[in-house]
Amino acid sequence: MLLIVTVVELTRELGAQWGRLTDEQKQPFVRKAQEDKERYQREMAEYQPTEQETNSEKTDQKAPEDNVHDDVREYYSKVLTQTKDLKTSACTSASKPHPIIQEALKHVPAPIKEKFYGCGTPIPLGIDGLTVLDLGSGSGRDCYIAAKLVGEDGRVIGVDMTDEQLSVAKEHVDEYMKTLGREESNLEFRKGYIEDLEQTGIEPDSVDIVISNCVVNLSPKKDQVLRGVYRVLKEGGEFYFSDVYADRRIAKHVQEHKVLYGECISGASKIFRTKLTNSVC
Ligand SMILES: C[S@@+](CC[C@H](N)C(=O)[O-])C[C@H]1O[C@@H](n2cnc3c(N)ncnc32)[C@H](O)[C@@H]1O
Repeated sequence: MLLIVTVVELTRELGAQWGRLTDEQKQPFVRKAQEDKERYQREMAEYQPTEQETNSEKTDQKAPEDNVHDDVREYYSKVLTQTKDLKTSACTSASKPHPIIQEALKHVPAPIKEKFYGCGTPIPLGIDGLTVLDLGSGSGRDCYIAAKLVGEDGRVIGVDMTDEQLSVAKEHVDEYMKTLGREESNLEFRKGYIEDLEQTGIEPDSVDIVISNCVVNLSPKKDQVLRGVYRVLKEGGEFYFSDVYADRRIAKHVQEHKVLYGECISGASKIFRTKLTNSVC
């Protein structure tokens, strides 16, 4: 059985709780986050690739993740051209977004909204002046909304690997900035893999909020995505995502089904609850 869970409400509540703490109460958490970050940076600096990883870099052979990327890219460039082309109801929002988001949506150009493939609206409020990064931004609906909410002093970057999605996203930026009465654009889209944010030029500790709408499930390397998010977030930064989860193993024939993979089902993160541990993989 597949579960579609929007974690926005949960993260919003955690954010509110954090806001109620005094600076003194926050200190141990900030210290722990700093220690974790330093440990992670040390481990990354000392990391030695395995023989298998080294050999796969030396040959032209495609790694399995390349095949996944190719299939997903094909799905979001050739198979789907509009929301109405979706073949399942997996990429669906369970509820209406907040009225502030609904208001912002009214200003987003129609061609952008017609190519929305998300499963929620993982955009927090109160983000004025912040830098937001959207992983797998597609035609950019959430980036356009965020660009309005962060105001002139904020900034939004969308990253996607599919040219067709990026070209629609980029095409309407100027017109949108005029609609918002902005002289300078605070919205940009970059080509790249969400597993390799470094290659897109996003600096460590440079982003306040990372968002992602129905994309992590499509990644063959979810752990790498999460490490990348951790790397680019500033201390105290937050990650909001809507995605698809499964509470049991997904059958092999479902995993290999290109439509079900493309529509965010086969790659769903698995959440297991056991007596000893809860885990996500
Ligand atoms: C389900 S759509 C969601 C698009 C967008 N977030 C939205 O809400 O409309 C998935 C998007 O993620 C992109 N994508 C999938 N895997 C990716 C990866 N590994 N790196 C970068 N982009 C990826 C696809 O090109 C596609 O545009």
